[in-house]
Amino acid sequence: RKPVTLHRLREMQAAGEPIAMLTCYDASFARVLDHAGVDCILIGDSLGMVVQGQTTTLPVTLDEMAYHTRIVAGANRTAWVIGDLPFGSYQESPSQAMRSATALMQAGAHMVKLEGGGWTADTVRFLVDRGVPVCAHLGLTPQTVHALGGYRIQGKGDDAVATLVRHAKELSDAGAAMCVLELVTAAAAREVTKNVSMATIGIGGGVECSGQVLVLHDMLGVTQGKLPRFVRNFMEGSSSISEAVSTYVADVKARRFPDNTLHAY
Ligand code: KIV
Ligand code: NA
Repeated sequence: RKPVTLHRLREMQAAGEPIAMLTCYDASFARVLDHAGVDCILIGDSLGMVVQGQTTTLPVTLDEMAYHTRIVAGANRTAWVIGDLPFGSYQESPSQAMRSATALMQAGAHMVKLEGGGWTADTVRFLVDRGVPVCAHLGLTPQTVHALGGYRIQGKGDDAVATLVRHAKELSDAGAAMCVLELVTAAAAREVTKNVSMATIGIGGGVECSGQVLVLHDMLGVTQGKLPRFVRNFMEGSSSISEAVSTYVADVKARRFPDNTLHAY
């Protein structure tokens, strides 16, 4: 396949073709995901949990993100590569965010992702104006887990939905091309998706987003312990990892995943 570009992702969004995204942290999996036709590979700061074994994403550093971005981007050939800005690397100021984004772009990212609502709009605009495509991240934002009081569903109730839509509009107007919606009600995700021009990528956000993302280790059944309800183990019924990843892509494209019965919030 030809390299996935921002232009191509916008075409998919306009055509209503769901965007399939997975996280990835190393070269071997990057090759598997790229070959299986995953549209976007996210080097998530979830690597703090699934690679480093920590309980939150907060300890992950920019140097660690740049290292994993470099090894993933080096092996990838056609997928769109998104680097996650870790906690503390963009909150101070737009120029701090630009410095951190530079580190990830120089490591091979095509886009950077940052968490947070309206307060990030100035930073999003600053980066986009300087040639850095940006993915926003709303709903459950794991870098603020201590302020949110745990990994809990967001966007419940009319006021919460209105706030979520307002923040999403601010980020979309600021130039964000994409936005992850994590652990929000399907109704909230639908409302955001209807009201913004950026593509919405759900993780526990229902089937009516512009695309879907899962943490690789979760969807391959590697993660031990209690998993969020929205996760599906794609190794069940697959005879190889590449088959599991291909099934994920096919199920996202056909809107067979996520299954709404799995998250009747
Ligand atoms: O770090 C990560 O893996 C993420 C996804 C869950 C969207 O931010
Ligand atoms: Na993340």
